[in-house]
Parts: sequence; C-alpha cells; structure tokens
Amino acid sequence: MRIDIITCVPAMFSGLMDQSILKRADDKGLAQIHVHNLRDYAINKQNQIDDYAFGGGAGMVLMIEPIDKCITQLRSERSYDEVIYMSPDGELLSQGISNELSLSKNLILLCGHYKGVDERVREHLVTREVSIGDYVLTGGELAAAVLADSVIRLLPGVMNDETSALTDSFQDDLIAPPVYTRPAEYKEWKVPEVLTSGHQAKIEEWRFDQQVARTKAKRPDLLRDSGLKD
Ligand code: ADE
Repeated sequence: MRIDIITCVPAMFSGLMDQSILKRADDKGLAQIHVHNLRDYAINKQNQIDDYAFGGGAGMVLMIEPIDKCITQLRSERSYDEVIYMSPDGELLSQGISNELSLSKNLILLCGHYKGVDERVREHLVTREVSIGDYVLTGGELAAAVLADSVIRLLPGVMNDETSALTDSFQDDLIAPPVYTRPAEYKEWKVPEVLTSGHQAKIEEWRFDQQVARTKAKRPDLLRDSGLKD
C-alpha cells in the first residue's frame, strides 16, 4: 500500500514510520508513506497557499490551486482508490472504515489547516471525508497519522501472531478481553485462575464471557446490532 499525504506541515509526519509496527511494515515493503509539502505547489514566489475567505470572517482558507496541482500530479503517476480529506465533519473513523481502506492500493490523505480548504476542493477533488472524532484539531495531520496507523497495521504480513488484528477490540463489535502476564501474583493481586489452568477451551469461554460483559459495561452501543444484547 502507498499513502500520499498532502500537508502544509510535513514535519508533523517525521518519524511516523520509524518505530514499532509501522517500521516493520516499511522494512518489509508492505506500506510506504510519501509526504508532500503543499508549499511546493504554491501559486507565486511568496509561496502562497492560503488566502482570506470571500465574504470576510476570521481565519485563512487553503486555496484550491496548490491542492489541485498536487493531486493532479499524483493522479498522473498512478490511480488512487480514494482521495480522503481529513475533516472534523467527515464520516467518523471506525474499525469498519479502516478494514475497508486496508484493501486499497493507493490512498491520498489531504490535511486541512486554518479554517479548512476552499469548498471546491471538497466538491471536485476529494472522494471521501473522514473525521477521527467530534473535536477540532489544529489541522488534519494528527488525524491522517491516526488513519494511516489504523489501516497499515491491518495489512497482511504487518503483524505477527502475537499482535494479530483479529483479536483487537471492535473487530467483532466487542471490546477485547483483559490480558495478564507474569507474575501470576503481585502484591496479592492475582491473575484469574482459569488463565493459568492450561485448559484452552475454558480459557476461550472465559475470554468471550469477559468480552461480552465488558462491552455491556463500557460500550453498550456496540452490542445494539450484534444480537448479544441479552
Ligand atoms: N481536522 C481537524 N479536526 C479533525 C478531526 N477531528 N478529524 C479529522 N480531521 C480533523
């Protein structure tokens, strides 16, 4: 998978692929992130990429021309599954959306800043808009990093058995069960006995019961459509 990120703050992505699971994805050639500085597509010698909003009001708006030039350049080089604008009013990112996007070959993530982008970018250049939550960030960069992380970890070969995405919370509309490691007792705080019993079928049953109980307690909304409510 290739992810092209368009941003006016490219430094916010430095180091993103240098650690942990994303590094492994990069090392194995399973995912690449290419960051493009919007200023390289500026419309004049002043490196301008934003301007005041027509009709007045506070805040600058990212202009359509630099964004169009950058997207057109990328599209001339390969075809993209989606051009995603990161925006607080986009569709809310979920495990389902990440699963879907993980089937893509090439993605463009466009990061807004200031007051956002000229609306014509959203009307004509973007295929999808994604939010990472109902709060406003200073720009789309952190949201793009979240989306890239959640998608890349799902690519086949990125995670090994121990980190398998199949046992993640949300993957089956249930929260993951609690996990413990050695020591089995610490300051009189004991690990549930079943986990050290060696009885695999009982352990699986306990884990599933825990998943349902935890989901009921913490995220009952997830159970609504799963048929596990009662
Ligand atoms: N840009 C600013 N806030 C955002 C959010 N919550 N999600 C996605 N992009 C954003």
